[in-house]
Amino acid sequence: MLEIVILAAGKGTRMRSDRPKVLHKVAGRSLLQHVIDCAYQLNPSRLHIVVGHGSDQVKDSLELNEKLSFVEQKEQLGTGHAVQQVLPFIEDGSDILILYGDVPLISANTLRTLVKYVSNDSMGLLTVVLDDASGYGRIIRNDQGQVTAIVEQKDASKEQLQLREVNTGVMAATGSYLKQCLPTLDNSNAQKEFYLTDIISIARESKIDVYTAQANSACEVLGVNNRRQQAEVERIVQRRLAESLMDDGLTLLDPERFDCRGTLTVGRDCIVDINCVFEGNVVLGDDVKIGPNCYISNSQIGAGTTVHANSIIDESTILGQGNIGPFARLRPGTKLANGVKIGNFVETKKALIGNGSKVNHLSYIGDAKVGADVNIGAGTITCNYDGVNKHITEIGDDVFVGSNTALVAPLTLGAGVTIGAGSVINSSVDEGNLALTRVKQRTVSGWERPKKKAKPK
Ligand code: UD1
Ligand code: CA
Repeated sequence: MLEIVILAAGKGTRMRSDRPKVLHKVAGRSLLQHVIDCAYQLNPSRLHIVVGHGSDQVKDSLELNEKLSFVEQKEQLGTGHAVQQVLPFIEDGSDILILYGDVPLISANTLRTLVKYVSNDSMGLLTVVLDDASGYGRIIRNDQGQVTAIVEQKDASKEQLQLREVNTGVMAATGSYLKQCLPTLDNSNAQKEFYLTDIISIARESKIDVYTAQANSACEVLGVNNRRQQAEVERIVQRRLAESLMDDGLTLLDPERFDCRGTLTVGRDCIVDINCVFEGNVVLGDDVKIGPNCYISNSQIGAGTTVHANSIIDESTILGQGNIGPFARLRPGTKLANGVKIGNFVETKKALIGNGSKVNHLSYIGDAKVGADVNIGAGTITCNYDGVNKHITEIGDDVFVGSNTALVAPLTLGAGVTIGAGSVINSSVDEGNLALTRVKQRTVSGWERPKKKAKPK
């Protein structure tokens, strides 16, 4: 049986934040969520999260299930003290894997290797060799190459600071060994903390062999302690996502200027221009082109659609062959059928728009059902809100709405209706009719404009 402990009680002073450190996000997920998602891949019987600073916020951020439990560390007296809090809740016979909530890129494969090192007389420790080891605990080995201790940066001698092999913080041992050694920790060190890392030197004394595994890459074990490291980790994740999407056949005009904070699924031959942000669950069909500076969240964009520069698409569906933007804003509940055109400075919300219909310029279409082959002229507004309630506008097939029209809902325009430009339409119009509310034009012939009098000199 495998139980996993994740340490997430620390304040994260170096983040200079009011939020607990582990709730800061990378690629749209909290640091802790990254670690938890990885932990589940090892199929543990239990997952113990040690919480302390902002514990309510941390708990609220997570999806609960029967495997997940929280253990409160009231005072943050060190990583060893944190694991001590979990001891009453773990089984002697379990293998215990300890992870840090601020090391988000750790991979399940590396952890699987480490867990294999655990037996009644051995434990596993994950180390990494870094060019710049500053800040990390250094791994001390004897002449035979066996690990004898971990020395924290603040406790290390000059010679020890030269060592480049460091503690990643990830280790695995039996429940019974942890129960035996953790109560013996003391805090006689530079930080007056109970260091989890001291169990390595205790292991030597207890005739427990320490086997080390090396992380595949240094970035896998990067800890996020400040905003710079957070940004560094964000770029690593984005680069990985970009590469895997390119492997799936996506053209990214610049993978360094691409951000995905969720899941992006692409069809064949899609193209994404620079500076686009994808959030939540976004699905692109085949041959979809996304122009520069678009923000797309929780939406489906069907085959053959082009989204031009600077458009926003949020919780919307485009069936296919759509032509969107530039500068379009599709708000939640927008559903476009095939071949719909939504042009610049058009906002839609809860709008169903039928095949081949066009809303080309400067319009607001909200709480509306629009049929097929409808042409909505520039500056048309569905007046859906009376100050208290929202009302529906229904527009039949083949309707033509002239420019600068206010459609005051609730309202139904029958199929084939024509609306004259500049109208305020507040009662329904039957099929095939023309409606217009334009004031009759008056022309004054030979009109002389007032002239300015010349100023006296
Ligand atoms: C720790 C290790 C160091 C290692 C580094 C790797 C110790 C003593 N040091 O140092 O050897 O190189 O991680 O990133 O273990 N936490 C608690 N309760 C506490 C203290 C910390 O839950 O009382 C949690 C923090 O929230 C964090 C994790 O433990 O998620 C690590 O704590 P942090 O203070 O960041 O340790 P480092 O100084 O980075
Ligand atoms: Ca850390």
